[in-house]
Amino acid sequence: MQLPSNIATRHLTAPEGLTEAAQTLAKGGLVAFPTETVYGLGADATDGEAVARIYAAKGRPSFNPLIAHVADLAAAESEGIFNAQARALAQAFWPGPLTLVVPVAPTGSVSTLARAGLDSIGLRVPDHPVALALLKAVGKPVAAPSANRSGRVSPTRADHVAGDLDGRMEAILDGGATQVGVESTIVACLDGEPRILRPGGVTRQAIEAVLGRALPVEEASGAVIAPGMLQSHYAPHSAVMLEAGKGAADAAILDFHRQLAGEPCMMRVDLSEGGDLLEAAARLFDALRQLDASGAARILVASVPKEGLGEAINDRLARAAAPRDL
Ligand code: TXA
Ligand code: MG
Repeated sequence: MQLPSNIATRHLTAPEGLTEAAQTLAKGGLVAFPTETVYGLGADATDGEAVARIYAAKGRPSFNPLIAHVADLAAAESEGIFNAQARALAQAFWPGPLTLVVPVAPTGSVSTLARAGLDSIGLRVPDHPVALALLKAVGKPVAAPSANRSGRVSPTRADHVAGDLDGRMEAILDGGATQVGVESTIVACLDGEPRILRPGGVTRQAIEAVLGRALPVEEASGAVIAPGMLQSHYAPHSAVMLEAGKGAADAAILDFHRQLAGEPCMMRVDLSEGGDLLEAAARLFDALRQLDASGAARILVASVPKEGLGEAINDRLARAAAPRDL
């Protein structure tokens, strides 16, 4: 397989394109596919060369560990060691937007590169019929980071993926717009207390309810625990300013619940006019891309409540606004 540049990318549609997508993965190719959170750029996780091609295609500066996607808990348990808490979370939220970081199992088949050399592994069973059908057809774990160029906004539609990665992957499997819109919540179940490494599609409250206790809030600006927690990560080209109270004629507005409805602007997108956080999460990355494409120098963002899915939304917005020093 050549390095991923100037590859003729095949545009497939699910379900017709599933078999070809699975065959492409089995041959060491890269296939972007939908999950319920965002589109992933997949490769056979057991094939180190295929995994290396993911990093090259994304232009990732370093080898961050990748999530291995599997079809069910049984497949996950042959890759990782699940303690009682990990199993309880898997049973409660899989398939779904939860990634569990657990110790690697002796029977694990995922390449060291996909784990970035760690002795832990991130595992997830996605809740999307196309992703699950693809995983069953491949019959192996599929490593997949979000299908965007490194440092860019995650893709929630096939055309977002094409815009970033056309010519850098063998195929893209179109399954429509994703439902959840923000990435999975990452919970580490290693020694000691479980820790939330990244807020995401499953809320803190839901996780705490299953575990029967409150979990500490990690400082996003502190030491990098999940390398994807690097501060500037979900970055549009335009400067992003949070908690904006008013508009400006030369700015774009990312609104929530019509807070900035009457304000001057070049373009305004409301994540949810009715103030629904689920709708807001699903629309977040597409809205950032739209406003970025408007050419406005600044994107002014209304405040979004911090509870429930608002934690993940605010986390992504803070990263989009972080200084670009990567
Ligand atoms: O919703 C999602 O999680 C999407 C879809 C495609 O599944 N995937 C995704 O992947 O967001 P990515 O690569 O953009 O983010 C994966 C995160 C990174 O922050 C990485 O550092 C962390 O997972 N991660 C993976 N394995 C880990 C491990 N063993 N220890 C700590 N962090 C890990
Ligand atoms: Mg990502």
